[in-house]
Amino acid sequence: MVTSSSTKLVFFACFVLFTFSDTLVAGESDKVQLNLYYESLCPGCQRFIVDELVKIFDSDLDTITDVKLVPFGNAKVSDNLTVICQHGEEECKLNALEACVINTLPNPKLQYNFIRCVENYTKNWESSCLNGYGDEKAINACYNSDLSKKLILGYAKQTSSLKPEHEFVPWVTLNSKPLYTNLDDLVGQVCKAYKGKTPLPKICSSSALSEWKMSKLEFSYVDETINH
Ligand SMILES: *[C@@H]1O[C@H](CO)[C@@H](O)[C@H](O)[C@H]1NC(C)=O
Ligand SMILES: *[C@@H]1O[C@H](CO)[C@@H](O)[C@H](O)[C@H]1NC(C)=O
Repeated sequence: MVTSSSTKLVFFACFVLFTFSDTLVAGESDKVQLNLYYESLCPGCQRFIVDELVKIFDSDLDTITDVKLVPFGNAKVSDNLTVICQHGEEECKLNALEACVINTLPNPKLQYNFIRCVENYTKNWESSCLNGYGDEKAINACYNSDLSKKLILGYAKQTSSLKPEHEFVPWVTLNSKPLYTNLDDLVGQVCKAYKGKTPLPKICSSSALSEWKMSKLEFSYVDETINH
């Protein structure tokens, strides 16, 4: 008898805990799916990542948002599977590095922090970002192996199967719908896209919102500098 009722109690406690934690963080399926299709060396992408996307992680918006980074952008894959990047070989290298960061680090915030550093210091990221952002050894091993190529080809596929197709980078989709040029109001758009049950984060109240608007971004159009 004692055993049975204590089993019940444990079961009940788990159930309460489960329900309770469910209300603290939006259920996975409720979250706004934010995908960023970008390439590492386009200035608009760099600015978006460093100055805009940070608002998701700096506020409590990351509790209702699933951020997915897709580093490929306007690159092309030729018939022999060589990747040709819009801003040259260096961009391909940084895309591959960032693909490895995403593949290696366990959560979006850690991935983002590393990638934000690389995007802020594209010319000297090695001296600026290789200390304290996470498993550099594993990231390096990925980068120097076939895995990085495989990851990039995966991102190529994800990018080319976008419907509608991306028109420029940075290209952001919220729940698969493109934001087009509304990138200067990312926070507002994420708040609007959220249809989950948990109360909206404070940042979504209109007075807090206005502080988060940014000025217009420059875009890197598909055929801007591709010449091959
Ligand atoms: C692959 O194709 C590209 C152009 O499509 C060419 O420049 C490159 O040399 C080729 N690489 C190999 C290894 O065949
Ligand atoms: C970005 O780089 C500048 C120097 O170019 C530095 O002052 C700033 O703190 C950096 N920001 C981040 C978020 O790393």
